[in-house]
Amino acid sequence: MQITDDLFTAIAHEHGTPVWVYDAQKIRARIALLQDFDLIRYAQKANANIHLLRLMREAGVRVDAVSHGELVRSLAAEFTPQEVVFTADLIDDQTRALVMHHGIAVNCGSVDMIDALGAHAPGHAVWLRINPGFGHGHSPKTNTGGVHSKHGVWIDDVPQALAAIRRHGLRLVGLHMHIGSGTDYAHLAQVCDAMVAAIVRFGIDVDAISAGGGLPDDDDAAQIGRYFALWDAARQRIAARLGHAVTLEVEPGRFLVASSGVLLTQVHVVKDTPAHRFVLVDAGFNDLVRPAFYGSRHPISVVSADTGQRAPRDVVVAGPLCEAGDVFTQSREGVLAPCSLPDPRVGDLLVLHEAGAYGASMSSTYNSRPLAPEVLVDGTGHQCIRHRQRIDALIALEIPVPTLHCNTA
Ligand code: LLP
Repeated sequence: MQITDDLFTAIAHEHGTPVWVYDAQKIRARIALLQDFDLIRYAQKANANIHLLRLMREAGVRVDAVSHGELVRSLAAEFTPQEVVFTADLIDDQTRALVMHHGIAVNCGSVDMIDALGAHAPGHAVWLRINPGFGHGHSPKTNTGGVHSKHGVWIDDVPQALAAIRRHGLRLVGLHMHIGSGTDYAHLAQVCDAMVAAIVRFGIDVDAISAGGGLPDDDDAAQIGRYFALWDAARQRIAARLGHAVTLEVEPGRFLVASSGVLLTQVHVVKDTPAHRFVLVDAGFNDLVRPAFYGSRHPISVVSADTGQRAPRDVVVAGPLCEAGDVFTQSREGVLAPCSLPDPRVGDLLVLHEAGAYGASMSSTYNSRPLAPEVLVDGTGHQCIRHRQRIDALIALEIPVPTLHCNTA
């Protein structure tokens, strides 16, 4: 079921704008598309709302955490520690204490991280994240492989990482490669061969391999079937070499939640310059930073019964922040790139689509704007899954303001 304009209007009325709206059924449909993999591990950085984590858990999905906070969220969503993997390039004391307390497996992306864990936690279960020597991203900022990437253990340094794992008596359970959040499957497919090659080259024995994430936000079942088939073939080659079964994991974020979510916002101002018609809405890049940060395009539509009668108009959709870059319709270079909409008016609701991944999770409180609420639609029902942040909560950490020690004499 599509979320109707009437429901968007009701949600805006009930919760105010801006507000994030997610569709639970769409998320479940995306999960179903990956069922051939032995294990789907949700990269919660895409959207870590505890209610979405619960939805994932109830659908049989497991979870990846990249920080102390994401570990706490995983446990709050009632994942068992065995259902969580902590993935990072470094580990701090607080996080190490938590993973040790619960016995949560750790995916290590550097030799120093292996040392930091191993010195305190002999016998702990670890994964090894390998930088295979190539990567791909929809932006250079989301490319996580190759010589310019800080992520994972560089392929030629794998022997040192394996030696450190042995030295500390850590238990290697899996190999992981994630080359970035990209645009296509062609780059991802290369990872299959890289995984087989690494296992052969370094004589590694593991029970599990992870294909990482980065799957395009596209529900083309045939394409996903071909992607699975490549990984399944790689897994079989690895299993034949090792002489035992190997579990195949996939670790998507965007694929599972991007298209299920929108940012609903209201038009407050329409004004013209000789160059542009600006439509100013109450959401800014503090809410959805992707257009400003990556030049990402989020399709925009207008919620209104009479939009069919309005002439299309090229407009620049922008937010309320005191910064020229607070524009939702811009190119990667930051050049304004108007979009065509049924001539928007003050009071209209606008929907910024494909905002379920890296939307709310990358929000900030810039300009002291509170975090927007989140609403989950499930069939005909909907519920608030995060309240709008209150201004007093936003400033609470700064109160009481320390007394200034100044010499008044
Ligand atoms: N696994 C690891 C180790 C990752 O670092 C990531 C994403 C994923 C899985 C999931 O990748 P996905 O399936 O979502 O592409 N903020 C950017 C995306 C950054 C992704 C960071 N790591 C954006 O808004 O496009």
